[in-house]
Amino acid sequence: MPEDRSQNSFDFAQAVIRWQVVHGRHGLPWQGTRDPYRVWLSEIMLQQTQVVTVLGYYDRFLARFPTVAALAAADQADVMALWSGLGYYSRARNLHACAQQVVSHHGGEFPATAHVLETLPGIGPSTAAAIASFCFGQAVSIFDGNVKRVLARFTGFEADLSDTSADRELRQIATSHLPSENPDQSMPRYTQGLMDLGATVCTRTKPACLLCPLKQACVAQRSGDPARLPLKTRRLVRRTVSWHLLLLQRPGGDIWLERRPSKGIWSGLYCPPVFASDDELLRHPDVGHATSTTRLDSFTHTLTHRDIVLHPVVCQLTESRAHPLASIDGERGLWIASDRLAHTALPTPVTKLLVRLQTPR
Ligand code: ADE
Repeated sequence: MPEDRSQNSFDFAQAVIRWQVVHGRHGLPWQGTRDPYRVWLSEIMLQQTQVVTVLGYYDRFLARFPTVAALAAADQADVMALWSGLGYYSRARNLHACAQQVVSHHGGEFPATAHVLETLPGIGPSTAAAIASFCFGQAVSIFDGNVKRVLARFTGFEADLSDTSADRELRQIATSHLPSENPDQSMPRYTQGLMDLGATVCTRTKPACLLCPLKQACVAQRSGDPARLPLKTRRLVRRTVSWHLLLLQRPGGDIWLERRPSKGIWSGLYCPPVFASDDELLRHPDVGHATSTTRLDSFTHTLTHRDIVLHPVVCQLTESRAHPLASIDGERGLWIASDRLAHTALPTPVTKLLVRLQTPR
């Protein structure tokens, strides 16, 4: 801890809790419940995805799978289809696997401690802490990027968070700032307050220190340059890849899709065949038999680590040419009609492309 004496007498947890009551986010559909199924679902959806986006999925998902048992019994393809558009699809596969483990290993009830929650698929330490504190009042700190930022600034933490030892040290600081009393009552509010503060006040580039309940004791605020912290030297390396998409279309408009491999970008989703180059795409045996070949405009789809430049090529096939593909096992591929788009697990840019292609002008 830095030497700042005012931090010793300042009750960090109480300040966060009092601020949450008045200024925090309220009325979100996953708040006001201690049902771990609902909280878990929201926390998984909110990983890497903004609240406004999740709002469009959460109620629909719960309406279809109202309990962990219903989700465990579902077909994975139905789970993936409901997730379609939220991105980071390994979350959906883990969600399904987690529901199955809750049923098979825990009698259908979510475990009540962060330590055991962490053993389930897709639940990392921070998500485990969120569920345990929201639902079971466990005194354990969430530790996502927002919380690290709030704590690093508040305490003037100068070590580089790219180092695991610094990260571990800050985690201990997080634990030392937990509410000291009555965790069953205080932990849900405290956890939500930390999340809200990081998301709405102590933001990455323009912290609104004037509105912050911690300002009187915040070391970074007093330094005059609060956005300098936290220090993190190792930055994400972005790469660009080119993907040439072969859109085989049969009479009537259906498009041929294949299942992506189980690892890598868009794993498990349905997608037109992908080629690394135009030459490779043109060597596909069906292209030579197409009645027409049309290049659509290229466009870029942005993921966290990658920019994918997509180059779509549409080939019209005759019925006789299209027929043999249709016999390929449905696990690997299928012909998709426009009225099935909403029910199939597709990457968002592919859905957009197909809607454009299959909508009569
Ligand atoms: N991000 C992660 N969990 C959240 C929650 N419970 N409320 C708002 N944003 C969140």
